[in-house]
Amino acid sequence: MAKILDGKKLAEKIKAQVKEEVEKLKKKKVNIKLSVILAGEDPASQIYVKNKIKMAEEVGILSEVLRFEKDVTEEVISYHISNLNENDDVDGILVQLPLPETIEPFRILDQIDPLKDVDGFHPYNIGLLQLGRARLKPCTPTGIIELLKEYNIEIKGKEAVVVGRSDIVGKPMAIMLLQENATVTICHSKTENLKEVTSRADILVAAIGKPGFIKRDMVKKGAVVIDVGINTIKTKAEALKFFAKDPLKLQKFMEKGSALIGDVDYYDVFDKVSYITPVPGGVGPLTVAVLMSNCLKAATARRII
Ligand code: GUN
Repeated sequence: MAKILDGKKLAEKIKAQVKEEVEKLKKKKVNIKLSVILAGEDPASQIYVKNKIKMAEEVGILSEVLRFEKDVTEEVISYHISNLNENDDVDGILVQLPLPETIEPFRILDQIDPLKDVDGFHPYNIGLLQLGRARLKPCTPTGIIELLKEYNIEIKGKEAVVVGRSDIVGKPMAIMLLQENATVTICHSKTENLKEVTSRADILVAAIGKPGFIKRDMVKKGAVVIDVGINTIKTKAEALKFFAKDPLKLQKFMEKGSALIGDVDYYDVFDKVSYITPVPGGVGPLTVAVLMSNCLKAATARRII
């Protein structure tokens, strides 16, 4: 039977630590501020941003959301980023992704002052990460490393497989696992013999955005499984397939008409692996908590406190 890696619990611990530091800074008249840019109506983004603002409030970080219609131009967003870069009261700038299709994300992300880049997505910060000299690191993979350490899971020398090669999770995750001395493989949609590769993993990170994609025959016995996926399922057929072993989840799906599920078929792998992150309540809350920690780091470094 797998043990649950409780991301929510670790997120609370990180939040408490950040809150304590934020309060100390407030006594020195330093008020940390996070500015979020949200363009378009992507429903998941609306929820993610709401969660980020809520957690900022809980830890005492000031926040604002600059909202734009989906037909906003690159020039308008650039103008606002430039203002935020110049504004000494703003410590963290976050552009929620995805941006509307007409805008190339890198053209926007590249404009953020690297010292205020609390997502750690600027090429400068990615470069420092690659060199092992990171300042601000991408939140999700940072949270995952913290989670493995919290549960005293050995990374050194282990075979780690990351499924997904996104700039946000897959690639930085692989770099961070390598820096912890794992032997790392990145798999993606063109990988041949995917099952063979994932089955070698002592630590398997799934970040592909496909509901329940990782099945029992794709994991090694005793593996540690980290599920980064947050997918919404809406059909009864999917609910019956994924929640057959969990009547409570099935019932909730019937009431609501939708449910969240990760990239791993949780109940299928559950009694084969040693540790697993649940969805929801695993990696999601950790990502937001690390964002708060990055805001604190950015403020401390930029203001040279
Ligand atoms: N969209 C999905 N995940 C993220 C994230 O970590 N940061 C930002 N800015 N957008 C996202």
